[in-house]
Amino acid sequence: MTTSLEEAAARLCAGGLVAFPTETVYGLGADATVPDAVARIFAAKGRPRFNPLIAHVADLEAARTQGRFDADAERLAAAFWPGPMTLVLPRAATGTVCDLACAGLATLGLRVPAHPLASALLRAVGRPVAAPSANRSGRLSPTRAVDVAADLGAVLNPGRDVILDGGDCQVGVESTIVACLGDKAPVLLRPGGLSREAVERVLGRALAAAGDGITAPGMLASHYAPSASLRLEASAVAPGEVGLDFAGRLGDGALDLSAVGDLAEAAANLYRHLRRLDAAAPTRIAVAPVPNRDLGAAINDRLRRAAAPRS
Ligand code: TXA
Ligand code: MG
Repeated sequence: MTTSLEEAAARLCAGGLVAFPTETVYGLGADATVPDAVARIFAAKGRPRFNPLIAHVADLEAARTQGRFDADAERLAAAFWPGPMTLVLPRAATGTVCDLACAGLATLGLRVPAHPLASALLRAVGRPVAAPSANRSGRLSPTRAVDVAADLGAVLNPGRDVILDGGDCQVGVESTIVACLGDKAPVLLRPGGLSREAVERVLGRALAAAGDGITAPGMLASHYAPSASLRLEASAVAPGEVGLDFAGRLGDGALDLSAVGDLAEAAANLYRHLRRLDAAAPTRIAVAPVPNRDLGAAINDRLRRAAAPRS
């Protein structure tokens, strides 16, 4: 089911679904301006329709036609696009993203990805592409084309949909989501592949926390979950468990996110290692503590959600 860039662009323009690589995780894309195409994303993922999608565009100029940028948003876009940052902005009057993609909200998530294949695809299509992570709702995000095929292969339509293989994702966790809605300080809606520290340095002030008023509807407590249960902050691997390590704390036999304690390397390995451990169908995965700075904040956020009780 994997394909060329030209074929992928043609499928998008014909209302098909295209799983494509970004530097964070693989996305499941559809033409964001066509409700029927966007509806197929929600169906394929089993995603509730109250959860809005991120619109991906090739550059800042295209983003400006879809969202209203205040001074903070301009500063962040100039510093971090293309890259692993999504801005939630008021929808622009000139916007073409359909209501279904936005879940009927007056705001829109916008991202300019840095992966060369994603950029080329967005340029070829010339319109916004709605894309959530290319996994069944609530499951681990895919960082390789084979992960997409394993999770979604059975629900994609081979006559209409394709997977564009761009190798392993370099960042490995989803984009950092920042809402710039004017009235108060920008809000961190989801920690991700760009550190809070880097965002705050550029803004020159602290990000507000998500909470009353504004949240990301998709940040459900249980999410990003493997089949096995997780035990966090483990100092040893108990009988019957397998270990997910950081910086060599759990010892022999555990799979290490980064033996040298590098948080960017750990983020890049997070989903791939969780999938590999899960494939052995263990009763439980024991996870070593991960420092909460830089990309560690995103890693810990995903681990907490993976460990949360399933509904
Ligand atoms: O790195 C990423 O962001 C990947 C790649 C494919 O770009 N995409 C991704 O999409 O992680 P998804 O759908 O798995 O997560 C998007 C999150 C959801 O929690 C959703 O609720 C939130 O963004 N979101 C989207 N639009 C929003 C809006 N207007 N207001 C608040 N939250 C929004
Ligand atoms: Mg997702």
